[in-house]
Amino acid sequence: MPANHFIDLNSLKVEDWGRLVDLAERMRENPEEYNQCCRGKILATLFYEPSTRTQFSFQSAMFRLGGQVIGFDNPGTTSVAKGESLKDTIRMLAGYSDIIAMRHPLDGSALAAAISSDVPIINAGDGGHLHPTQTLTDLVTLSIEKGGFDGHCIGVCGDLWYGRTVHSLIKALSCFNNNRFVLISTKELTVPPYVREVLDKSGCEYSFAETLEEAVPELDVLYMTRIQRERFSSPEEYEAQKGVYVLDGEKMKRAKKDLIVMHPLPRVDEIAVEVDSDPRAAYFRQARYGVFARMALIYTMLSEGLNVRELREGTHIEPGKRCRNKRCVKAFEFDLPDFVHQSSDGLVCGFCEQIVS
Ligand code: NCD
Repeated sequence: MPANHFIDLNSLKVEDWGRLVDLAERMRENPEEYNQCCRGKILATLFYEPSTRTQFSFQSAMFRLGGQVIGFDNPGTTSVAKGESLKDTIRMLAGYSDIIAMRHPLDGSALAAAISSDVPIINAGDGGHLHPTQTLTDLVTLSIEKGGFDGHCIGVCGDLWYGRTVHSLIKALSCFNNNRFVLISTKELTVPPYVREVLDKSGCEYSFAETLEEAVPELDVLYMTRIQRERFSSPEEYEAQKGVYVLDGEKMKRAKKDLIVMHPLPRVDEIAVEVDSDPRAAYFRQARYGVFARMALIYTMLSEGLNVRELREGTHIEPGKRCRNKRCVKAFEFDLPDFVHQSSDGLVCGFCEQIVS
C-alpha cells in the first residue's frame, strides 16, 4: 500500500495515533500557534456522499491551518456525471491540490483512490467499510473526556453491520489493554466477520446484548449509531430495523455517573433530545474535537508525513475466485489489482476486507 495515505488507522503504529491525538489537543489549546502552518497548501474535499460534520470539519481544519480548500459535495455537478472513473478524477484533483479528503459510497474506494494518486489521500468514509478520521476524533474525545484509551467497558449500539464508524472504532480500541466491548444490536445488524476476527485476535473480551436496558449499567462509554438506511438493499429491510434502540432519560438513570455517550452523528431517533442536556452526553463536544483531530492529521501528512505500515500484501488469487461484495469498489472500477490477504476465514479482498470466494 502506498505510503502517506490515511486509509485505515490500523496501518499506523499505535504510538503514532498517540502523537496525532496529542497534537490535536495542543492545537485545541493553542490554535493561534498553528494558524499559518499550512499556508500555501490546498486541500481538495471530494464528497461523493452526503456529509455535514466530516466535510465541514475538514474545511474548517484547513482554513484554521492557514491553507485553502477546493472540492465538491455533489458529484452530479462534476465530470463524474459524464462517466469519469474514480481513477481519472483522482488524477486530475491530485494535480490541483496538495492533499485529498474523499468520501465515497463504495467499500475500498479510498484505497483504490490512493493507488492512483500522487498526493496523500485521506479516507473520509468508504462505504460501509471504515471511517478512520472519525475514529481519530473518537480517540481525541476519549483522551479529553476519559483520560485515555485503556480499561473501558464500551457499548456499541445500533447498526454494527453497515456502520463504518463502529468498524474503525473497534479495530482501534481493541489494540489497547483491558477494553471490553458490549455489542448491542439486532442479530441481523451485528458486526461483519472481519470485525469479529479483529476482536478474536486482539484477545479483548466481548459480549452481545439485544437490549440497551441490560447493557447500560456496566458501561463506561456508550457509542450510539443510527441505522444506515441508505445501505440497505430494500426499504422493507430498513423498516424492520429502524427505531429498535432509543437512548432516553430513563435508560440514562441506570447508567454510571461517569459514563460518556458518544455518537458520530447525525442522529435520527436513537437518542432522545432530552439526553442532550445530560453532562454525560458528549456527542456535540465530540463533533467539535473533530476539527482538531483533522487539523493534526492534515498538518502531519503535509509536513513530516505518516509512517504507514504495509498492511495488505498482494497474494496470488486463484482463477475463478473474486470478491463477491456488490458494494466493493472492485465491482465498479476497472484496472484495480487483485489485492487479497489471508485471514483465518480464508482469503479476503484487500479493498473491502470481505471474503473472496
Ligand atoms: C458517520 C458516517 O458518515 O459514517 N457520520 C460522520 O461522519 N460523522 C455516521 C453516519 O452517517 O451515521
